[in-house]
Amino acid sequence: MENFRYLSEMKQTILIFLIFIAGCLSASQSITSSSGPREVLIVYTGNLLAELKPCGCAKEEDQGGIERRMQYLKETRLQHPNLLLVDTGDHFKEPTRQGKLKAETLLIATEKMHYDAVALGDRDMVYGSKFLKNRAQIPWIAGNLKIDQFEPIRSKVKSFSNGLKVGILAVADPKLFYDHVGLDVTDPKQAVRNLITRMRKTEKPDLIVLLTHAEKQVALNYLKLDGVDIVINGHIVTESDVIDMVPVKRNGKLFVQSSPRGQKMGELRVQLDPEGNKSLSHRMVKLDSSVKSDPKMVELYEKYNEKVEAMFFETLAGKRSGRNKSVYAGDALCKTCHSAEHKVWSGSRHGRAYDTLRKINKAFDPECLVCHVVGFNLAGGFISELDTPGLKNVQCEVCHGPGRDHASAPQAGFGGKAREACKQCHVKNHSPRFNYAEYWPKIKH
Ligand code: HEC
Ligand code: HEC
Ligand code: HEC
Ligand code: HEC
Repeated sequence: MENFRYLSEMKQTILIFLIFIAGCLSASQSITSSSGPREVLIVYTGNLLAELKPCGCAKEEDQGGIERRMQYLKETRLQHPNLLLVDTGDHFKEPTRQGKLKAETLLIATEKMHYDAVALGDRDMVYGSKFLKNRAQIPWIAGNLKIDQFEPIRSKVKSFSNGLKVGILAVADPKLFYDHVGLDVTDPKQAVRNLITRMRKTEKPDLIVLLTHAEKQVALNYLKLDGVDIVINGHIVTESDVIDMVPVKRNGKLFVQSSPRGQKMGELRVQLDPEGNKSLSHRMVKLDSSVKSDPKMVELYEKYNEKVEAMFFETLAGKRSGRNKSVYAGDALCKTCHSAEHKVWSGSRHGRAYDTLRKINKAFDPECLVCHVVGFNLAGGFISELDTPGLKNVQCEVCHGPGRDHASAPQAGFGGKAREACKQCHVKNHSPRFNYAEYWPKIKH
């Protein structure tokens, strides 16, 4: 009996000892992992031009949008707790009423995405500083812009749970700014130098990321500045601009550029070993249809769409009262004399272009109608399905020109410049594969 108890006590001691050993092992493991390289994932966007959602005209260009971006961010944040999210600016397009609606929606989305720093570009000033200031939850950052009644932060240091500290700065090239009242753009390089000096004295970041807003060749020079580890540049003029997204490596530093219109997310993985050596890797992630849509952003987009619809109906009255006798005849009239051509046309995709919009609840969006009906925004052209039912779709007169006169007094030689019409609508962002020799045979009549 005694022996037995002794044995069981022995067992307990051994067990405790084993637990102790196991504890030591796991402790030593955690020591090795915290002394290994530490990592931050920098995710960047820019050049958004208020694009909320891709139009869906062509598969290749079906990338980006707030619905997919949010979903990507949610998934990526789950995988990488140490994530830094930044934007290089140029959020808006030209200032129109619909443009402003988009801009507002985009900024609401930006707030919800919890960026760490959002730089300001030349296009961000189009609605004035108050418009930006109203979105107080967005961490606007600008090292060299002095803006009336608006104080973006000058620099920022973010500390991560693994102990890493990343400094973030942003500057814009003064040459990109027209004379804006209430805006003063100071020397960007001097601003960077001053801010880095201050940062190094106070917060002592392990890594410094500089967001620039400039032409590529100008922005590349910032890699030379002492203390800068990474330059992320953005700047876009038109929505069809091609942007070189191939990273440039120089002396262990990295230069990258944001994708146009939020089509792709930039990812920079930075590792720092205990000796302070940095290793950087880069990739672009395409936000194509394989990325799901975040339900909250779908809702936000839906709200925007409803406002566009309301705006469309509001402007109808004005268009109706200014209406003259139309210069357009409509396809039904052309059909009376050109039935063979009409038959080919009505079987083509041009003959269904309005339905395409209706199916996706877009038949009221001026930004879509302009290429999917006859003469939208032109005198005598499409107003609405109710007002001008005969001018839906991409009809004969889109290519051959207004034909009311021809229909009442037909003559040979009418509409001879049709070949030149294609490029009005078959532009890069909406029809990247367009090639006359391949497209014409599909609609030949
Ligand atoms: C600049 C002219 C233009 C504008 C603006 C435009 N589209 Fe298109 N759209 C086209 C052209 C051209 C095609 C055919 C592309 C091709 O196949 O090469 C097309 C095709 C489409 C298709 C594909 C139809 C199918 O069956 O595959 C959809 C959907 C579409 N557009 C929706 C939209 C929406 C929504 C908008 C507004 C947000 C819009 N489009 C604005 C020119 C335009
Ligand atoms: C009342 C009958 C009539 C109507 C309506 C009519 N056309 Fe014509 N169209 C003609 C005749 C006739 C010609 C000359 C054919 C010829 O001499 O070879 C012609 C010529 C043309 C041509 C030039 C062909 C060529 O060989 O020079 C085009 C393009 C054309 N029409 C397009 C249209 C379109 C688009 C509409 C509708 C807006 C339309 N037509 C309405 C009768 C008509
Ligand atoms: C997408 C543009 C487009 C649409 C839509 C279109 N056409 Fe054409 N059409 C053309 C082109 C391009 C040609 C060939 C011109 C050439 O050969 O240079 C042509 C040729 C013609 C010709 C023959 C002209 C000739 O010289 O032989 C007629 C007639 C004609 N179209 C009538 C129509 C009618 C009627 C419709 C509507 C039912 C229509 N087209 C719709 C682009 C279009
Ligand atoms: C007013 C704008 C407009 C013009 C001008 C125009 N297109 Fe289109 N085209 C469209 C739209 C919109 C679609 C897509 C329609 C849909 O599917 O809803 C389209 C689709 C097509 C398609 C079908 C593509 C496919 O892969 O099946 C062909 C082919 C085409 N266009 C050829 C032409 C040619 C050739 C011209 C010039 C002679 C021309 N288009 C001029 C707007 C236009």
